[in-house]
Amino acid sequence: MKEWYDAIKEAQSVEKLEEIRISVFGKKGVLAAEFAKMKSAPNDQKAQIAKDLNTHKSSLMNEFTARKITLQTLQLQEAMKAESIDVSLFTSKSQAGALHPVMETMDRIVEYFTAMNFAVKTGSMVEDDFNNFEALNLPKYHPARDMQDTFYFKDEMLLRTHTSPVQIRTMMNTKPPIRMIAPGAVFRRDYDLTHTPMFHQVEGLLVDDEGKVSFANLKYILEDFLKYMFGDIEVRFRPSFFPFTEPSAEVDISCVFCKGEGCRVCSHTGWLEVLGCGIVDPNVFKAVKYKNVSGYAFGLGVERFAMLIHQIGDLRSLFEGDIKLLEQFQ
Ligand code: PHE
Repeated sequence: MKEWYDAIKEAQSVEKLEEIRISVFGKKGVLAAEFAKMKSAPNDQKAQIAKDLNTHKSSLMNEFTARKITLQTLQLQEAMKAESIDVSLFTSKSQAGALHPVMETMDRIVEYFTAMNFAVKTGSMVEDDFNNFEALNLPKYHPARDMQDTFYFKDEMLLRTHTSPVQIRTMMNTKPPIRMIAPGAVFRRDYDLTHTPMFHQVEGLLVDDEGKVSFANLKYILEDFLKYMFGDIEVRFRPSFFPFTEPSAEVDISCVFCKGEGCRVCSHTGWLEVLGCGIVDPNVFKAVKYKNVSGYAFGLGVERFAMLIHQIGDLRSLFEGDIKLLEQFQ
């Protein structure tokens, strides 16, 4: 029997041990053979032989179980070692997402005005004629409607051509004073180097008691805002026309490309137009039934800002979703 104890103790693998188990405990194994031999032993010795064999059987079984556990543990340890992952190894760089340059610019604009205590208001992209035109002093057949080529639905519904209807809706359901901006998408039938059918605007409106809001207030905040956005630039106000403001102005900044020297981008004028603004026209206040108030309003195109900040030549490229272009803004 001793050789079998040794065989079990020395078995080097789970597979080898299994072979030994069959040779010892199997139907044709050594123990079975010994029990068979017992039959031909003298009767008075049988009981003792059986007792000895059973003792061996259970100690062999104990040895076997102990060895099996040892071998299995070793096997597991080896497998873990072989399959372990070195988490300290470098891998290829993973790609992180980033904000689209238009949204990043929008966030910056909103950040400025919220810091200046302007509330952020939003409205529907599908508007009616009253809020988009009529209440903004743009009656039907007014030639200024042609400034904004419109997408119409039936029943005088349309895709808003600017964020100015949010001014109207806010004034209709809030009492003055008002200090708000309205960021959002707007739609016009346009498509070329500097126009896409959908683009983003930020509208601004401030309303307070009559005589309290002046053009000087408007000029101050817009100059401060434009320096916040573009850094060290010159700002100028040019008389202009909007139906909903009087007086109205367009605001230019000195060209960010040539620093005012004159280049292709600024059509050799040294100036870039970036904003429309003015003192709210009394007809607008009449339409929303506001009395004894004064206010200023302004509106800007976010894509134009993004193009000037990032020096992008073709507006359409911002909407093509080209990963090679967008990666540059990470
Ligand atoms: N709504 C005008 C536009 O889209 C911009 C603007 C807003 C001008 C407010 C003046 C005041 O062109």
